[in-house]
Amino acid sequence: MKKLAIHGGKPQREAQYPSWPISGPREEELIRQVLSSGQWGGFHEFVTQFEQLFAGLHDARHGVAVANGSIGLELALLASGIGPGDEVIVPAHSFISTATAVSRIGATPVFVDIGRDSFNMDLQAMEQAIGDDTKAVIPVHFAGLVCDAEELTRLQRLHRFRIIEDAAHAHGAEWNGARAGGMGLAGVFSFQNSKAMTAGEGGILISSDDETAARARSLANGGRRPDGGWFEHFELGTNLRITGLQAAALLAQLERLPEQIRIRRENAEIVREGLSRVPGVHLQELPEAATVHTHYLLPGWIDALEFGADRDDFVKALEGEGVPIRPFYPHPLYKNPVFKNKDIKSRVTACPVAEAAAHDSFWLPQRVLMGTAEDALDIVRAVEKIYEVFKPKKTAGKPN
Ligand SMILES: Cc1ncc(COP(=O)(O)O)c(C=O)c1O
Repeated sequence: MKKLAIHGGKPQREAQYPSWPISGPREEELIRQVLSSGQWGGFHEFVTQFEQLFAGLHDARHGVAVANGSIGLELALLASGIGPGDEVIVPAHSFISTATAVSRIGATPVFVDIGRDSFNMDLQAMEQAIGDDTKAVIPVHFAGLVCDAEELTRLQRLHRFRIIEDAAHAHGAEWNGARAGGMGLAGVFSFQNSKAMTAGEGGILISSDDETAARARSLANGGRRPDGGWFEHFELGTNLRITGLQAAALLAQLERLPEQIRIRRENAEIVREGLSRVPGVHLQELPEAATVHTHYLLPGWIDALEFGADRDDFVKALEGEGVPIRPFYPHPLYKNPVFKNKDIKSRVTACPVAEAAAHDSFWLPQRVLMGTAEDALDIVRAVEKIYEVFKPKKTAGKPN
């Protein structure tokens, strides 16, 4: 049996996985064009070009690029008429702004559980949480796995809520051929440094609803309207524009996206196949309907009884073997101090899976899936090595 690196053995690998973000001559060339244009701001033609291209690629008619994904979510809520007194259902695990965006515009987030193997909002729990004040639902396409779009749409028709997709993880992702972000009333993406496409910071709201998109544009552009003057302001707007420099980077990043998704999917397949043979390691499900899972992350959970070690020991051991990995969010969103504040209203439904996930789940970051097939196989080899050391004494193999 090989000795683990955390026990003083040789790590599975010493070479680094590819670093992130990735850029090249194309980003430099386009950024240089903006630099020499005399218009570095949000009115450079690259911004409109990017908005149209990105929205079109995600099955939406309009795109409004904004400073970041967090503000994009607030904008989507405001532009779709959500406000004080309204409830908005969100998953109990996500990045904080999925929920704080709701509070910041004066509405009330309602936290519901996630699915054990989907890591996405549990749609049954979501339906049970619907109340008289429910006006919208924010599904998060976690890790690049689109939420079950047919079921979501069925529930939407039945209960008539607005869908605002948090697609911060899901650039280019699909469910039965339909692209993430383009299914709801509005969809919001992030271009923050770690995301699958990045300009350092940035975001975009996409929508095929003319009214929502026009309102979002106006709110993000000082309350102006296309038919009004520069100093005529119709909405209580502000400036949420991205710069031409960011749009230049994003145009180049968009060109890289299909190839990067292809590489991640191929490597994820290798990891999924290899780890399916290791007892106690459960990776995020990959339903057939998820025609493109972009694997921005590869999440999973550890069954400590089957694996012989808990999530924390697994994470430490895998890091020791040279594979970057992150424990999951440390607690469901509603356990953050901000939602303990009595002045900030929220409603919490039973979330047993979200509670468990905080202790037993993890994710592999996208960069470990951006290398070669051998790099991906190293993840499998490292996990197998760890399992051999920790496996429960009586387990002969994975039960059928
Ligand atoms: C699921 C999710 N929603 C929203 C955001 C917010 O995006 P940003 O960091 O661009 O504000 C992030 C990322 O940070 C995220 O992961």
